[in-house]
Amino acid sequence: MDITFLLNGERVELRDIDPTMTTLDWLRERRGLAATKEGCNEGDCGACTVMVTDDRGARALNACILFLPQLHGKALRTVEGIAAPDGALHPVQQAMVAHHGSQCGFCTPGFVASMAVNHLNGETDHETALAGNLCRCTGYVPILRAARAAEPAPVPDHLRDDPGFLSPEISSGGAAAGGGGQTAPQRGFQPESADDLARLYTAHPDATLIAGATDVGLWVTKQMRDPGPVIFLNRCADLQDIAEDGGTLRIGAGVTMDRVLALMAAHHPSYAGMIRRYGSAQVRAAATIGGNIANGSPIGDNPPALIALGAVLHLRKGEARREVPLEDFFVDYGKQDRAPGEFVAAVTLPATAPALRCYKISKRFDQDISALLGCFNIVVRDGVVHSARIAFGGMAGIPKRATHVEQALTGQPWTEAAIAAARDAWAQDFAPLSDMRASADYRLTTARNLLVRYFHDLSGTETDVRRVQA
Ligand SMILES: Cc1cc2nc3c(=O)[nH]c(=O)nc-3n(C[C@H](O)[C@H](O)[C@H](O)COP(=O)(O)OP(=O)(O)OC[C@H]3O[C@@H](n4cnc5c(N)ncnc54)[C@H](O)[C@@H]3O)c2cc1C
Ligand code: FES
Ligand code: FES
Repeated sequence: MDITFLLNGERVELRDIDPTMTTLDWLRERRGLAATKEGCNEGDCGACTVMVTDDRGARALNACILFLPQLHGKALRTVEGIAAPDGALHPVQQAMVAHHGSQCGFCTPGFVASMAVNHLNGETDHETALAGNLCRCTGYVPILRAARAAEPAPVPDHLRDDPGFLSPEISSGGAAAGGGGQTAPQRGFQPESADDLARLYTAHPDATLIAGATDVGLWVTKQMRDPGPVIFLNRCADLQDIAEDGGTLRIGAGVTMDRVLALMAAHHPSYAGMIRRYGSAQVRAAATIGGNIANGSPIGDNPPALIALGAVLHLRKGEARREVPLEDFFVDYGKQDRAPGEFVAAVTLPATAPALRCYKISKRFDQDISALLGCFNIVVRDGVVHSARIAFGGMAGIPKRATHVEQALTGQPWTEAAIAAARDAWAQDFAPLSDMRASADYRLTTARNLLVRYFHDLSGTETDVRRVQA
């Protein structure tokens, strides 16, 4: 594959690259830019954070699970290019010095890259925005102080320039230079639209689709797998559309989780609260809703919420399109209702559902995979349960509805007594596993308790037990 992008303000053209070379390996081993560090090599620690700008703005991304073709047509800045070309420190770098934000310094380039992105975007919720950057020795208080101290400083001119460079110099020129994809050694393709993707994937049904690479990246860096021919989805702009029509939201498969978070904040606040705890800012900026559904993980965070909402999945193979209720897409552990050459195009869901609540249970609050995730959407009319949709992740080999519990509740008075009477139904719906995240007993007990929490939540009792320090 051939790609073109800006690196620290300079145009870079790469020919015949290995499509699954990570940006981190290329920076450190090929380009000699070793300030960006390798810690976990799986998207968890943030030591490899870089700034990536495109027509949607600047985002912090983990370079260790960012494949080079995902940079095509974009601007990349490492910590070497965050300081001004004349060597003047960026305001966040100055603040890190002034507030003693660095000791051994291993995490510092990643923090600085995240902080520079937040500074550029006017982000002031630093606790959330820096949750994907880990520091073993300084401690977070001086770093947070530095982030706050830098807030009023103006954005340096050289960082404002990146988006300006992009359209004429890189986006169009770069695409012409090879973004269409079928260049030697033909292991990678980068279609520009869903139509292109449909044609390519029909012709190469054995290819691995790569959207945000927050799963596929780990197949390469941790499992040392060769994913074979790959098709990158990130330039299919029409897979990134969000539309609202007649009370229905349509979210393209390529929409990243940071955009899902913003969308849900307006439509489904409890869903948004759960997505706020999905990975980290870096992971949410890369991972797509389509990838989170298509990978069929029993502990993916979107599917239970979407199933509780009655979402419909839109699939496409060539010119053929079909729709399935999302719950039917998950057939068995590791098996989804998706034919070779068929891809997830979008998901549709109701724009409002006031009764929806999502509860993510994990060992850590931030940046942790769910042990279980319960989503409830129970409509009560005149004190009686009119309809119930309850879906869980982490309770079975697939994201799954609690149909027996739903039946036990429907038509009953909405009372704690009815909830207690449904107690036995839980074990008919779920026989969860014990694993490193939770025991089977814990999972079943917690699922039952979450229905009680939901009851109190809907009656207006404060059920958020997390204490947030000012
Ligand atoms: C540090 C870290 C933290 C994480 N935290 C969470 C978390 O809190 N909650 C959570 O749910 N997940 C989490 N994940 C998992 C991961 O983010 C998700 O599963 C993610 O949504 C996958 O999306 P992606 O776009 O990155 O997919 P990719 O890695 O690009 O692809 C994943 C799979 O889906 C396929 N695919 C992608 N798009 C399509 C499509 N349109 N049609 C058909 N197939 C497709 C790919 O071929 C591949 O098999 C985390 C991952 C990391 C690395
Ligand atoms: S090296 Fe840890 S997130 Fe990339
Ligand atoms: S300064 Fe040592 S890990 Fe952060």
